[in-house]
Formats: sequence, C-alpha cells, structure tokens
Amino acid sequence: MNAGPELRILANSGELAAEAADLFVWLGSQAIQNKGCFRVALSGGSTPRALHGALTMPRLAGQVDWEKVEFFFGDERGVPPDHPESNFGMADATLFRPLGVKQDRIFRMHGEAKDQEQAAREYEAGLHGQFGTKPPAWPRFDLILLGLGEDGHTASLFPGSEALRERTRLVVPSRSPKGVPQRLTLTVPIVNQAQTVVFLVSGSGKAAVVRQVLEGRETDRTRLPAQLIRPEQGRLIWFLDQAAASELVLSKQGLVSHEE
Ligand code: 6PG
Repeated sequence: MNAGPELRILANSGELAAEAADLFVWLGSQAIQNKGCFRVALSGGSTPRALHGALTMPRLAGQVDWEKVEFFFGDERGVPPDHPESNFGMADATLFRPLGVKQDRIFRMHGEAKDQEQAAREYEAGLHGQFGTKPPAWPRFDLILLGLGEDGHTASLFPGSEALRERTRLVVPSRSPKGVPQRLTLTVPIVNQAQTVVFLVSGSGKAAVVRQVLEGRETDRTRLPAQLIRPEQGRLIWFLDQAAASELVLSKQGLVSHEE
C-alpha cells in the first residue's frame, strides 16, 4: 500500500514554479550528496517552462552542481530536436543552454526516428547502461517530472492506449490523438519505480481533469492514465496552482487518500 499523493496548492503559476524549483534543488542536492549524481526525467509540454526559468535564476542555479545532474525525458514527440514541438528543444532553450549543461549530461529520446521500436529499445538500453541496471531490475529515477493533459494523459500515455498495459518495457512507442502523433514515452512501471514523482499542473483549464484524477472514482484507470501513477516506494507530489485546484473538494481538506 503506498501513501496517497501530497498536494501543494500555490497561489499562481509563478509561485508553483518557484516551489517546484526549490524542491528540485533540494532533491538534487540530497541525491548528489548521497550518491554523487541526480537523475531526473523532464516533462514536455509548456508548463515546465516556468520551472526551468526558476531553476536558471542565480539564487537557485548556484546551489546545484549541474555537472552531476543527468537529464532524461519522460517522453518525446516525433519531430527533430530543433522543431518547435520538440520537448528536448524546449528544455534546451529554457534550461540546458542557460545553465551551460554539457551534452554528455543530456540523454535525448530520438522521437524523430523512423523506426520507433528501435528508438524505444535504444533509449531503454541507454537507461540500463546509465543507471547500471540489467533487466528485470528497474532503473530508479531520483525525480520524474510530469504534466497532465485535459484528457488525463501524462507523458505520452494516452487514454485507452496499448502503452498503458506495458508491464516490462521501460520505453515504448505511442500515438497521440492530438498534435504530433508519433511519440516515445516512459511506461507506467518505470515511472512508478521513481524515488519522487512530481506533477506540475497550472490553469483553470485543468481544474476538471485534476478533480477527476484526484477525487474521481477509479473505475477504469486507463481512461485517466495519470491515475496509474502511484510510485511503489517513492513520493508522489502534485503541485497545483489555485486555478487548477479550483474544483477540488475533499483533497483540500486532506480528506482524500488513495489507498491501494
Ligand atoms: C508532452 C507532455 C505532456 C504534457 C501535458 C500537459 O509531451 O506534451 O509530456 O504529457 O505534460 O500534455 O501539457 P501542458 O504543460 O502544455 O499543459
């Protein structure tokens, strides 16, 4: 049985980004102190831009030994790295370049590959290589950052998709019903092995799906993939601004705990 999610409700997206950045820096410092590295999977989409901006501010950027941070991705779209829709491209512009992160610290998913199965297996092999694990052991990320789509998807795990049923692979090809269809994504089991999983959700447009995911009945979790994210030993923290949390009822009184 794992503890329910921790909710942190912030006044606005700026405060959400600042609070999440503080947690990122704290987790990073702990991991680097304890094992000499900090392995994080970044989220795609637009919400993480503000977090990245907060991390590059001198107050925080100076607190992390970025040479010891290894950057991975939760998912990638089927576009080249310099494409406006590329998750790598967004992170490169808003985080890697401003911080001067060296190429050997960045592990990009080759979403643009023609052979998606091969690209997925190569990234999976790369994870095992970097984490020093072999199947059936699972690489354990120190932190996985996730967003939430209005349909309840997270990473590129979309409602009703085959990828949601994957129990052994770390990375699989996936198809998005909107935007760039070709995707690569981490699977549910690898996310649920992480030490800490953080959802970053901002804006009133997400309020309805936030309530469904956090307070709705869990009849069919493949309908709301974000409900499948339950770290087995790790922490699950939802950073919400008040707009995204505006339809929550029970959770605000701390009355909801998702028991297995
Ligand atoms: C992606 C992300 C996706 C994103 C959500 C929320 O590649 O698009 O992995 O899961 O986090 O769609 O996106 P926004 O932050 O843009 O609302």
